[in-house]
Amino acid sequence: MGDRVTVSVIKADIGSVAGHSRPHPKMMTKCADILRDGVKGGTIDDFYVTRVGDDVNLYMTHSRGENDKTVHGLAWEAFQSATKEAKQMKLYAAGQDILTDAFSGNVRGAGPGAAEIEFTERGSEPLLFFMADKTEPSSFSLPLTRIFMDPFTTTGLVIDPRAHLGFKFEIVDVCDSKKIVMCAPEESYDILSILGDTTRYAIKRVMSRIDNIGVAAVVSTEKLNLAAGKYVGKDDPVMVVRCQSGLPAVGEVLQPFMFPQLVAGWMRGSHHGAWYPCSVEDSDPSYFDGPPRIVCLGFQISNGKFQGLEDPESPPGIHTPIDYFAGSVWNEARRRATKVSIYIRGHGPFMPGILSPEEMEYTTRPSVLGKLKERMEDIE
Ligand code: F6R
Ligand code: MG
Ligand code: MG
Repeated sequence: MGDRVTVSVIKADIGSVAGHSRPHPKMMTKCADILRDGVKGGTIDDFYVTRVGDDVNLYMTHSRGENDKTVHGLAWEAFQSATKEAKQMKLYAAGQDILTDAFSGNVRGAGPGAAEIEFTERGSEPLLFFMADKTEPSSFSLPLTRIFMDPFTTTGLVIDPRAHLGFKFEIVDVCDSKKIVMCAPEESYDILSILGDTTRYAIKRVMSRIDNIGVAAVVSTEKLNLAAGKYVGKDDPVMVVRCQSGLPAVGEVLQPFMFPQLVAGWMRGSHHGAWYPCSVEDSDPSYFDGPPRIVCLGFQISNGKFQGLEDPESPPGIHTPIDYFAGSVWNEARRRATKVSIYIRGHGPFMPGILSPEEMEYTTRPSVLGKLKERMEDIE
């Protein structure tokens, strides 16, 4: 067992080229420059800058724990610097997620999203980083329950004595701003009974029931918490999952994404679409601002730093992860997701093509109903 390490993924949509598509390379370079300074200044130990669709994702390792003011401040500075570039080029939605000019010590609630996980580094520590575009945090509930609760997905739950103990789930109720920890397998049906309502409940964390492992997975749920009482959470979530040696294997974690699940978000944050697994390169929204994308990158965490395919001596920030959904086996999921998305688009502005009224991010219904009020008559 090694030292405590914190992995922080902080993400924001701060502008892109030709609509809500892909950030400009100059914005990515600006972020990398700021994070490199952060390594030099001792705020973080290592970093990686990437994106999914129009969202810039900053991966950082450090030893400062979750919600650290200096680490969040560094991410904020990176987003501000990249926003300046975006504004100079008059890119679309430049600075969209930088909602406030004054940084108050934490990005949570300020616009960017964050998934942070602190753990004691094991002998070998494989991590998967999932980044979604055009959907919401509760979209991760279905795959997470399959991964950590379903023995027909994760055979390890049946045949690995350490995973056989089951897992604990921290579930948030976004309407009442409440959270609860529940245990599987004994509370599995209760857990599913709650999580099935993706408009209200989402998984924030999954914890191992073996003492020395700790948190196994974490999802960004910022805007959901912020908007308690009102559901406006199509905030393009990220998720970090630790794998292997008593936790689900990498292959068990990836498997549920072969099912092109219908998720809420897509065009104008107001439609259902099928989750499309793809590479970073293939994540530009290309059909009706979507379909909603899911990308998965894999790294080892090695002595508090990212280890990918590059030379272990490479400078901080220079990394090559495994881009898991790039592979041809995922063509099948992509084909099915495309078919399902075309099918549901056939509903046009009707449900279930569009979301339920309370979930729509764009709506004219209140003003239309207001205008028609006088003309509405009682039915005899
Ligand atoms: C943005 C997104 C898009 C926009 C849509 C309308 O991430 O998902 O679907 O909601 O393109 O954007 P505006 O209102 O900026 O024209
Ligand atoms: Mg956007
Ligand atoms: Mg986005």
